[in-house]
Amino acid sequence: MKIIEKQLEDRQGAKIRELFPAAPLDKLFVTRTGDEQFGDYQTNFAMAAAKDLAMKPMDIAKRIVSEQGRSDLGELSLAGPGFINLTLSNDFLGAEVAKIGREPYDLSFLDRAGSVVIDYSSPNIAKPMHIGHLRSTVLGDSIARIYRYLGYTVVGDNHLGDWGTQFGKLIVAYRRWLDRAAYEKSAIEELERIYVLFSQAAESDKSLEEEARAELKKLQDGDPENRELWQEFIKLSLAEYNRIYERMGVKFDTYHGESFFHDRMPAMLDLLIEKGLAKESEGALVVFFDEKEKLHPCIVRKGDGAFLYATSDLACLQFKRETYTLNRAVYVTDERQQPHFKQIFRIARLLGWQERLDHVWFGIMRFGDGTFSSRAGNVIKLDELLNESVRRARIVIEEKNPELPEEEKAAVAEMVGLGAVKYADLSQNRISAVSFEWDKALSFDGNTAPYLQYTHARIRSIARKAAETGRPAEPDAKIAITGPTERRLAVHLLGFGTAVQKAAENYRPNLIADYLFELGQRFNTFYNASPVLKEEGTVMQSRLALCLRTAHVVKEGLSLLGIGAPERM
Ligand code: ARG
Repeated sequence: MKIIEKQLEDRQGAKIRELFPAAPLDKLFVTRTGDEQFGDYQTNFAMAAAKDLAMKPMDIAKRIVSEQGRSDLGELSLAGPGFINLTLSNDFLGAEVAKIGREPYDLSFLDRAGSVVIDYSSPNIAKPMHIGHLRSTVLGDSIARIYRYLGYTVVGDNHLGDWGTQFGKLIVAYRRWLDRAAYEKSAIEELERIYVLFSQAAESDKSLEEEARAELKKLQDGDPENRELWQEFIKLSLAEYNRIYERMGVKFDTYHGESFFHDRMPAMLDLLIEKGLAKESEGALVVFFDEKEKLHPCIVRKGDGAFLYATSDLACLQFKRETYTLNRAVYVTDERQQPHFKQIFRIARLLGWQERLDHVWFGIMRFGDGTFSSRAGNVIKLDELLNESVRRARIVIEEKNPELPEEEKAAVAEMVGLGAVKYADLSQNRISAVSFEWDKALSFDGNTAPYLQYTHARIRSIARKAAETGRPAEPDAKIAITGPTERRLAVHLLGFGTAVQKAAENYRPNLIADYLFELGQRFNTFYNASPVLKEEGTVMQSRLALCLRTAHVVKEGLSLLGIGAPERM
């Protein structure tokens, strides 16, 4: 099926061409009206085409409306200085809604060539996986799902911070202070503890920093003992991260951490020098930018020869260009990394690299009641946060549906608990700072995951009851739109494809959340006004079909946010 706006543009465009053979149809855009009293869709084409057609907008609009005011699509009307409004016919609406879940969207208008490489989560080994990483994980995963849904080839990459000065310190700390039992229980927590210990001890004992630098140098020069330790840190940390990723349903295609690019960095520096971009400055190698760029100089090699974060990101981008035909490279991190990516992207342009590069940044998430702090142990706390959410979800489910079998209760609680945490993040505009509150996240009414999950389960239960009473849903039932609440639901159902496309275009999953919340509300209004199971025959089947299309869209929309939709709850 075609995205509704595209379909209307195609159909209306063909008619406009009959009336005005010279019409500039590239200026024909159909959008949803903000206010239902102006119909369902509108276009400003008459204004946009006035110059080309050398006519007054009103005259163009009048001609279109008077000659083609009525069709199977619906009815056109005039508004303002030349807007054309379209109210879809109930027949057309019903027929289009019936295609949902049956026919895949025709997305051939998107430029989907090449791979969309998305870098997300990317925690630093042995440093706390802070809340920013949770947001990056949830947001990046959702963006990857959305692009996949639209038919792009997506490569999800976890750019682990697995190289750098922290490892020299860790090696020193490990040999001095490691608590073996604690390490075996939770490697990350113990590594964090000794890392913090190191920082504290180094304040009074300056020789420690010296020692750490020496260990780092040994590591980078390939000393077998240090390399083995380093590999162990990574292996154990990854095992814990992966446990959490798995629980959250988050997947990656590659784990190309900073160390992966180590061997590529010297050649990267040579290229920067060769292109005249990097210059020696006080022993370091630095890229200076034009003054009007308002960018700080970017150090790519320190005085002691060490590479930096920027160096590995440049080598990483070069690797991506060589490895994939890039549709684009996307980086999901918190807002503090904006200057870094501005530098990287600018250097890429100076190198003549033309690929599309997008830094998708987000604001800080704050947790009420001290759920998270910057204190060590945040990985573990993330787990605790999820456990707490599941525990609270469980209480509500117990209340709502005590009859559910034990196993299902647990599964649903997990789905709802995780969904609540993810949705609380994804439903907000990513660039604003957001705060997390338990009661809000887990509420069953309002813009929350539980509300949508409950809406889904409710519809599935209607379908089950229909079947139990000998009236199972007929797959080809005709959807007849009769009343206003049915109409409002149907119109909104047709907007799903556009909501997903806009969410992708702007890297804003919250547009899908907004869409779903509105859908839930329209569904509930419809359902309260139009009983399904009390009806019989074609009316009952039509309404049931509308319900099932709604459930389908809710489930699909939630899945794009990485959230499950239970059959019962
Ligand atoms: N490891 C970094 C951090 O924790 C995030 C990496 C983001 N990705 C990148 N290619 N730089 O801050």
